[in-house]
Amino acid sequence: MEQRSKNGTLIHKESGANMGFFSKLFGKSTKEEETVADTLRIGIINGSVREGRNAEAVANWTLEFANKRNDENVEYEIVDLADYKLPMLGAPLAEGQQAEAEQAIKAWSEKIASYDAFIFVAPEYNHAVGGALKNALDFLNPEVNNKVAGFVGYGSLGGVRAHENLRLILGELQVADVRTAVTFSLITDFENMSEFKPADYHEANANGMLDQVISWGKAFKALRD
Ligand SMILES: Cc1cc2nc3c(=O)[nH]c(=O)nc-3n(C[C@H](O)[C@H](O)[C@H](O)COP(=O)(O)O)c2cc1C
Repeated sequence: MEQRSKNGTLIHKESGANMGFFSKLFGKSTKEEETVADTLRIGIINGSVREGRNAEAVANWTLEFANKRNDENVEYEIVDLADYKLPMLGAPLAEGQQAEAEQAIKAWSEKIASYDAFIFVAPEYNHAVGGALKNALDFLNPEVNNKVAGFVGYGSLGGVRAHENLRLILGELQVADVRTAVTFSLITDFENMSEFKPADYHEANANGMLDQVISWGKAFKALRD
Protein backbone atom coordinates (compact mmCIF):
# COMPACT_ATOMS: atom_id res chain seq x y z
CA MET A 1 0.00 0.00 0.00
CA GLU A 2 1.38 3.42 -0.96
CA GLN A 3 0.82 6.59 1.06
CA ARG A 4 2.15 10.11 1.40
CA SER A 5 3.29 11.51 4.75
CA LYS A 6 2.35 14.97 6.10
CA ASN A 7 5.15 16.67 4.17
CA GLY A 8 4.53 14.77 0.95
CA THR A 9 7.27 12.14 1.33
CA LEU A 10 6.44 8.91 -0.40
CA ILE A 11 6.14 6.04 2.05
CA HIS A 12 5.27 2.40 1.57
CA LYS A 13 3.22 1.08 4.40
CA GLU A 14 1.69 -2.30 5.12
CA SER A 15 -0.69 -1.94 8.03
CA GLY A 16 -1.88 -4.81 10.19
CA ALA A 17 -5.52 -4.09 9.33
CA ASN A 18 -4.84 -4.76 5.64
CA MET A 19 -2.69 -7.85 6.10
CA GLY A 20 -3.74 -11.39 5.47
CA PHE A 21 -3.98 -14.25 7.96
CA PHE A 22 -0.51 -15.70 7.22
CA SER A 23 1.27 -12.34 7.51
CA LYS A 24 -0.32 -11.85 10.91
CA LEU A 25 0.48 -15.42 11.94
CA PHE A 26 4.17 -15.02 11.09
CA GLY A 27 4.55 -11.81 13.02
CA LYS A 28 4.62 -9.14 10.31
CA SER A 29 1.54 -7.47 11.74
CA THR A 30 3.41 -6.46 14.92
CA LYS A 31 5.72 -4.15 12.99
CA GLU A 32 4.87 -1.71 10.22
CA GLU A 33 7.24 -1.73 7.30
CA GLU A 34 8.06 1.76 6.18
CA THR A 35 10.54 2.78 3.55
CA VAL A 36 11.27 6.42 2.99
CA ALA A 37 12.05 6.74 -0.68
CA ASP A 38 13.25 10.34 -0.93
CA THR A 39 16.82 11.46 -1.55
CA LEU A 40 18.81 12.61 1.48
CA ARG A 41 19.92 16.21 0.88
CA ILE A 42 23.12 17.26 2.62
CA GLY A 43 24.22 20.91 2.70
CA ILE A 44 27.94 21.60 3.04
CA ILE A 45 28.01 24.94 4.82
CA ASN A 46 30.97 27.18 3.98
CA GLY A 47 31.18 28.86 7.38
CA SER A 48 33.57 31.73 6.67
CA VAL A 49 32.91 35.01 4.86
CA ARG A 50 36.48 36.29 5.26
CA GLU A 51 38.12 37.66 2.13
CA GLY A 52 40.80 35.17 1.04
CA ARG A 53 39.26 32.48 3.26
CA ASN A 54 40.59 28.92 3.34
CA ALA A 55 37.02 27.69 3.76
CA GLU A 56 36.42 27.67 0.02
CA ALA A 57 39.15 25.12 -0.75
CA VAL A 58 38.09 22.95 2.20
CA ALA A 59 34.40 23.06 1.21
CA ASN A 60 35.29 22.15 -2.39
CA TRP A 61 37.45 19.24 -1.18
CA THR A 62 34.56 18.05 1.01
CA LEU A 63 32.07 18.18 -1.86
CA GLU A 64 34.43 16.39 -4.25
CA PHE A 65 35.28 13.71 -1.68
CA ALA A 66 31.60 13.16 -0.81
CA ASN A 67 30.51 12.97 -4.46
CA LYS A 68 33.19 10.39 -5.26
CA ARG A 69 31.60 7.99 -2.75
CA ASN A 70 28.49 7.71 -4.95
CA ASP A 71 26.23 7.23 -1.96
CA GLU A 72 22.88 5.95 -3.14
CA ASN A 73 20.01 8.46 -2.81
CA VAL A 74 22.26 11.10 -1.27
CA GLU A 75 23.02 14.49 -2.79
CA TYR A 76 25.51 17.10 -1.61
CA GLU A 77 25.57 20.83 -2.26
CA ILE A 78 27.73 23.71 -1.02
CA VAL A 79 25.92 26.56 0.74
CA ASP A 80 28.16 29.61 0.88
CA LEU A 81 27.42 31.93 3.79
CA ALA A 82 29.01 34.78 1.82
CA ASP A 83 26.20 34.55 -0.76
CA TYR A 84 23.56 35.61 1.77
CA LYS A 85 24.69 39.02 3.08
CA LEU A 86 22.88 38.46 6.36
CA PRO A 87 22.54 41.41 8.73
CA MET A 88 23.64 41.11 12.35
CA LEU A 89 20.68 39.59 14.16
CA GLY A 90 18.49 42.31 15.64
CA ALA A 91 20.72 45.24 14.63
CA PRO A 92 18.81 48.36 13.53
CA LEU A 93 19.04 48.94 9.79
CA ALA A 94 18.63 52.06 7.66
CA GLU A 95 15.28 52.10 5.85
CA GLY A 96 16.89 51.43 2.49
CA GLN A 97 18.59 48.27 3.78
CA GLN A 98 15.60 46.57 5.40
CA ALA A 99 14.02 44.90 2.34
CA GLU A 100 17.38 43.48 1.23
CA ALA A 101 18.10 42.17 4.73
CA GLU A 102 14.66 40.54 4.98
CA GLN A 103 15.16 38.91 1.59
CA ALA A 104 18.58 37.58 2.67
CA ILE A 105 17.17 36.12 5.90
CA LYS A 106 14.28 34.48 3.99
CA ALA A 107 16.59 33.01 1.33
CA TRP A 108 18.99 31.69 4.01
CA SER A 109 16.28 30.06 6.12
CA GLU A 110 14.53 28.51 3.07
CA LYS A 111 17.80 27.13 1.77
CA ILE A 112 18.70 25.59 5.11
CA ALA A 113 15.18 24.18 5.57
CA SER A 114 15.58 22.30 2.27
CA TYR A 115 18.31 19.99 3.69
CA ASP A 116 18.10 16.86 5.81
CA ALA A 117 21.63 17.10 7.17
CA PHE A 118 24.62 19.44 7.20
CA ILE A 119 28.38 19.35 7.09
CA PHE A 120 29.81 22.46 8.66
CA VAL A 121 33.12 23.60 7.19
CA ALA A 122 34.08 25.63 10.21
CA PRO A 123 37.31 27.46 10.91
CA GLU A 124 38.38 28.26 14.46
CA TYR A 125 38.41 31.90 15.55
CA ASN A 126 39.58 32.58 19.10
CA HIS A 127 38.91 28.99 20.19
CA ALA A 128 35.34 29.11 18.94
CA VAL A 129 33.21 29.10 15.82
CA GLY A 130 33.53 32.28 13.72
CA GLY A 131 31.13 35.14 14.38
CA ALA A 132 29.57 35.08 10.89
CA LEU A 133 28.51 31.44 11.25
CA LYS A 134 27.20 31.96 14.80
CA ASN A 135 25.14 34.94 13.62
CA ALA A 136 23.77 32.92 10.69
CA LEU A 137 22.79 30.05 13.01
CA ASP A 138 20.98 32.48 15.32
CA PHE A 139 18.45 33.14 12.52
CA LEU A 140 17.50 29.44 12.46
CA ASN A 141 15.55 27.07 14.64
CA PRO A 142 12.71 24.98 13.13
CA GLU A 143 14.68 24.87 9.87
CA VAL A 144 17.26 22.60 11.53
CA ASN A 145 15.34 20.83 14.32
CA ASN A 146 15.71 17.03 14.29
CA LYS A 147 18.36 17.15 11.59
CA VAL A 148 21.96 15.96 11.62
CA ALA A 149 25.40 17.59 11.42
CA GLY A 150 29.00 16.60 10.83
CA PHE A 151 32.10 18.81 10.94
CA VAL A 152 35.10 19.54 8.76
CA GLY A 153 37.42 21.98 10.49
CA TYR A 154 40.84 23.51 10.24
CA GLY A 155 43.06 25.45 12.56
CA SER A 156 46.29 25.09 14.50
CA LEU A 157 44.70 22.09 16.27
CA GLY A 158 42.39 21.07 13.44
CA GLY A 159 39.60 23.42 14.45
CA VAL A 160 38.46 21.07 17.21
CA ARG A 161 37.56 23.87 19.61
CA ALA A 162 35.28 25.37 16.97
CA HIS A 163 33.64 21.94 16.59
CA GLU A 164 33.09 21.61 20.32
CA ASN A 165 31.63 25.12 20.40
CA LEU A 166 29.35 24.25 17.48
CA ARG A 167 28.15 21.12 19.28
CA LEU A 168 26.97 23.33 22.13
CA ILE A 169 25.10 25.68 19.78
CA LEU A 170 23.59 22.85 17.74
CA GLY A 171 22.39 21.09 20.90
CA GLU A 172 20.15 24.08 21.62
CA LEU A 173 18.92 23.99 18.00
CA GLN A 174 18.06 20.29 18.36
CA VAL A 175 20.56 19.15 15.76
CA ALA A 176 22.21 15.76 16.31
CA ASP A 177 25.96 16.04 15.66
CA VAL A 178 28.05 12.98 14.88
CA ARG A 179 31.23 12.15 16.77
CA THR A 180 33.77 11.67 13.98
CA ALA A 181 35.06 14.91 12.48
CA VAL A 182 37.66 15.90 9.90
CA THR A 183 40.37 18.08 11.43
CA PHE A 184 42.80 19.68 9.01
CA SER A 185 45.92 21.29 10.46
CA LEU A 186 46.75 24.81 9.33
CA ILE A 187 50.40 23.83 9.79
CA THR A 188 50.64 20.51 7.94
CA ASP A 189 47.61 20.44 5.61
CA PHE A 190 48.18 23.94 4.22
CA GLU A 191 51.30 25.43 2.66
CA ASN A 192 51.97 28.86 4.18
CA MET A 193 48.67 28.39 6.00
CA SER A 194 46.85 29.26 2.79
CA GLU A 195 47.41 26.63 0.09
CA PHE A 196 45.34 23.57 0.88
CA LYS A 197 47.31 20.32 0.56
CA PRO A 198 45.44 17.78 2.68
CA ALA A 199 47.18 14.63 3.87
CA ASP A 200 45.55 11.39 2.72
CA TYR A 201 44.95 10.05 6.23
CA HIS A 202 42.04 12.49 6.71
CA GLU A 203 40.00 10.41 4.27
CA ALA A 204 39.33 7.74 6.91
CA ASN A 205 37.69 10.29 9.19
CA ALA A 206 35.86 11.89 6.27
CA ASN A 207 34.35 8.51 5.43
CA GLY A 208 33.49 7.80 9.07
CA MET A 209 31.83 11.20 9.43
CA LEU A 210 29.86 10.85 6.18
CA ASP A 211 28.76 7.28 6.98
CA GLN A 212 27.27 8.46 10.25
CA VAL A 213 25.73 11.66 8.86
CA ILE A 214 23.99 9.53 6.22
CA SER A 215 22.73 6.81 8.57
CA TRP A 216 21.58 9.29 11.22
CA GLY A 217 20.23 11.56 8.48
CA LYS A 218 17.97 8.78 7.22
CA ALA A 219 16.82 7.93 10.74
CA PHE A 220 16.00 11.56 11.56
CA LYS A 221 14.24 12.02 8.22
CA ALA A 222 11.94 9.15 9.14
CA LEU A 223 11.38 10.78 12.54
CA ARG A 224 10.32 14.07 10.93
CA ASP A 225 7.96 12.43 8.40
C1 LIG B 1 40.60 36.65 14.56
C2 LIG B 1 41.21 35.31 14.34
C3 LIG B 1 41.29 34.43 15.38
C4 LIG B 1 41.84 33.16 15.17
N1 LIG B 1 41.88 32.30 16.21
C5 LIG B 1 42.31 31.06 16.00
C6 LIG B 1 42.28 30.11 17.07
O1 LIG B 1 41.88 30.38 18.16
N2 LIG B 1 42.72 28.86 16.81
C7 LIG B 1 43.18 28.48 15.58
O2 LIG B 1 43.53 27.33 15.40
N3 LIG B 1 43.22 29.37 14.55
C8 LIG B 1 42.81 30.64 14.75
N4 LIG B 1 42.84 31.54 13.72
C9 LIG B 1 43.35 31.11 12.41
C10 LIG B 1 42.19 30.73 11.51
O3 LIG B 1 41.63 29.50 11.87
C11 LIG B 1 42.68 30.66 10.07
O4 LIG B 1 43.06 31.96 9.67
C12 LIG B 1 41.66 30.11 9.11
O5 LIG B 1 42.20 30.07 7.83
C13 LIG B 1 40.38 30.94 9.13
O6 LIG B 1 39.45 30.39 8.26
P1 LIG B 1 39.09 31.11 6.89
O7 LIG B 1 40.39 31.35 6.16
O8 LIG B 1 38.22 30.13 6.14
O9 LIG B 1 38.36 32.37 7.22
C14 LIG B 1 42.32 32.81 13.90
C15 LIG B 1 42.24 33.72 12.84
C16 LIG B 1 41.69 34.96 13.05
C17 LIG B 1 41.59 35.92 11.89
